[in-house]
Amino acid sequence: MNRMLDGVKSWNDFSQLKQIDEVFVKYAKYLKGKDALDIGCCYGRSSLIFAEQGLNVTGIDADPAAVEKFNMFAAEKNLPAKAYCISATDYVFDREWDAIICEGMLHFLPQSDAYKMIEKIQDATCCGGLNLIATFTTEGEAFKGKKTKTNGFLCPGYLETLYKDPSWKILNYWEVPSATRKEKNGIRLMQVASEVIARKVADY
Ligand SMILES: C[S@@+](CC[C@H](N)C(=O)[O-])C[C@H]1O[C@@H](n2cnc3c(N)ncnc32)[C@H](O)[C@@H]1O
Repeated sequence: MNRMLDGVKSWNDFSQLKQIDEVFVKYAKYLKGKDALDIGCCYGRSSLIFAEQGLNVTGIDADPAAVEKFNMFAAEKNLPAKAYCISATDYVFDREWDAIICEGMLHFLPQSDAYKMIEKIQDATCCGGLNLIATFTTEGEAFKGKKTKTNGFLCPGYLETLYKDPSWKILNYWEVPSATRKEKNGIRLMQVASEVIARKVADY
């Protein structure tokens, strides 16, 4: 059972990432009718916002219940969005996308897989396409509490470094304190998130 889905009745419930999505929508306006991939799409909180703006969104998520909700909400709103149940690490990047989105998912992967995933995302983005990545850094209370340091929390500044490559233009980069989901005792921990919106400007 995915605790995050408890009580989710509507596609736009639960939104700590709303502000970054609003900024992304402005850049994505010219991608109307183009194809976007959302990795770790859950029930479509942000995918469906982007689909409402005219992007054709393919979502992938490892949680079948989340995927079912995604497809139900997309059908209810008649949006160009479809989700599939597959783990991000099993997903084969066999084509290029006009936009790739990955919000709040990388910290579920081992750190080396999280780094590899960002590389795959970058490679599978077409020239002129956009990336939106939002994930936790190692800075904060949630990371300190972990028994192992093998999860995909990124080092502060690392995400920005990856997009400083000349093939990319960073449109926005933030490192902001962000609340994690509630722990069993009902408390939310603070963790610094790093978030980037970038455009691929060249293929080398
Ligand atoms: C915090 S939610 C974020 C959901 C969504 N991106 C958003 O911004 O609202 C994390 C999602 O990542 C999914 N997830 C975790 N590990 C995954 C994996 N290995 N492959 C695909 N999805 C995964 C979870 O099932 C969950 O739906």
